[in-house]
Amino acid sequence: MFTATGVSETELRQKGRKVVRRAGKQVLLLSTGGRHFAIANRCPHEGYPLSEGTEGPGCVLTCNWHNWKFDLATGTALVGRDPVRTYGIELRNGEIFVDLADPPAEQQKLRALDGLLAAIADNDMARMAREVARLERAGFDAAIAVNHALEARNERLEFGTTHAHAAAADWLALAERAPSDDARLAAMIEPIAHLAWDTVGAKRFPYAADVKPWDANAFLDAIESENETAAIAHLRGALDTGVAHSEIGRALGRAALSHYADFGHSAIYTQKTGQLIERLGRQSTLPVMLALVRSLVNATREERLPEFRGYDKARASWDSDAIEPARSQDFIGLSIDEALSRALRSAGRKPREVYDALLGAAAWNLLHFDLAYDAATDNPIADNVSWLDFTHALTFANASRHICEEQPDLWPNALLQLALFVGRNKAYVNAQQDISDFRVADRQNFISGEISRLYDHGIVEPIIACHRLKMLFALEDELAAAPDAPWADEMCTAMNRYLHTPQKRHHGLRLATQARDFIAREG
Ligand code: FES
Repeated sequence: MFTATGVSETELRQKGRKVVRRAGKQVLLLSTGGRHFAIANRCPHEGYPLSEGTEGPGCVLTCNWHNWKFDLATGTALVGRDPVRTYGIELRNGEIFVDLADPPAEQQKLRALDGLLAAIADNDMARMAREVARLERAGFDAAIAVNHALEARNERLEFGTTHAHAAAADWLALAERAPSDDARLAAMIEPIAHLAWDTVGAKRFPYAADVKPWDANAFLDAIESENETAAIAHLRGALDTGVAHSEIGRALGRAALSHYADFGHSAIYTQKTGQLIERLGRQSTLPVMLALVRSLVNATREERLPEFRGYDKARASWDSDAIEPARSQDFIGLSIDEALSRALRSAGRKPREVYDALLGAAAWNLLHFDLAYDAATDNPIADNVSWLDFTHALTFANASRHICEEQPDLWPNALLQLALFVGRNKAYVNAQQDISDFRVADRQNFISGEISRLYDHGIVEPIIACHRLKMLFALEDELAAAPDAPWADEMCTAMNRYLHTPQKRHHGLRLATQARDFIAREG
């Protein structure tokens, strides 16, 4: 629908440019090179007025704030990123009319999604936010953008699922609780930006297109033998024939806990994948499951490492006649092999009792992490330990509890793997750590307050913010399941210390020292 601007062609020719305000929009009219143009006056970068811009040859307008250059005929950004909106023009009796009608919603959606992918490729978070805001303004749910990003970037995940997927379900949950539209958008952008961070510059690693009939045992065998093509083929077969997600999920949970896979990441990723599909809907099923299966195939079987080799033997020795009661203090300070042996002595107790004991010991470890290891510059690579080595015990516990509640025969795997966390981290604690400043008076207030802070966490690295989020949601979930858990106070205190202690995220001197040492021995 064309709207009168009140500007005559003669006036525009004389003045060269003129801003008019119609229907809540600022429209910049330009006359240059014998042609007339109408564009949005607000630069699509940061909103400064294009009416202050500089015209160049070829009907190009430069925004002088950051030098973006726009083709006036198409709106394309010749330098810069987002295109500027252009409006159709008609001359009626010497007066300029402009077509201010918005493009159809579907067209706006496609434009926003295209722009989003360009922003992801550039790892440009500001533009990601603008494009998702444009999508919402056109009347669409921002979850479409998350789905689109997951689908479009999926082949660039060489090893499948990353923490970007694992935290996505929690960011979406955070968006649902947002106190304002701005906070909601902030939460929705996080998983997209994390995916961009994890895939920037990555080449494509296509997923095999083969399809085989669903067979849970064959699927598990394919994962076990690291045959991605076969595992993916069975997954595709399952999805093509409508096999229930719960059935596929059980097989995935079994695969995740069949090894101390990727230091517990496989269990976390599996649990979070299920939650992500629930939140995003069926459209997300194929891409996120493809990524998960790839990650399960590629997962490091950590129990093959010398320090964790006692796991297989312990798993084979699990004996339900062993009924010694289990408490946290029974596990604190034990080495890996000692923790495995101690867990075996309680193998016949209720899993929940052993779980609480191990989670309590994990909380104690987190609370007593010795920051000297985080700060060290002259340690061997094997002792490169950070907060994240400790935080995973909680998120692994949370994920594995859910998996085991559905498949109780996996409890021994989960409990013994939790014992591996406890025993391994014991080497990096300081029992004399002063924890008095970190006591939490009101658990619920503490957790909800810390979760609220994540809308504006101020952390550059997505992996750090996402761990805070996953930890808090895992703690909230664990406390909802067992409000009187014996470890509740200690875990909240530990969480408080973790959240409020600066983390050293760059180890320049350590890196150099280890590199020189490594090269000296290389021969
Ligand atoms: S505001 Fe126009 S280029 Fe930055």
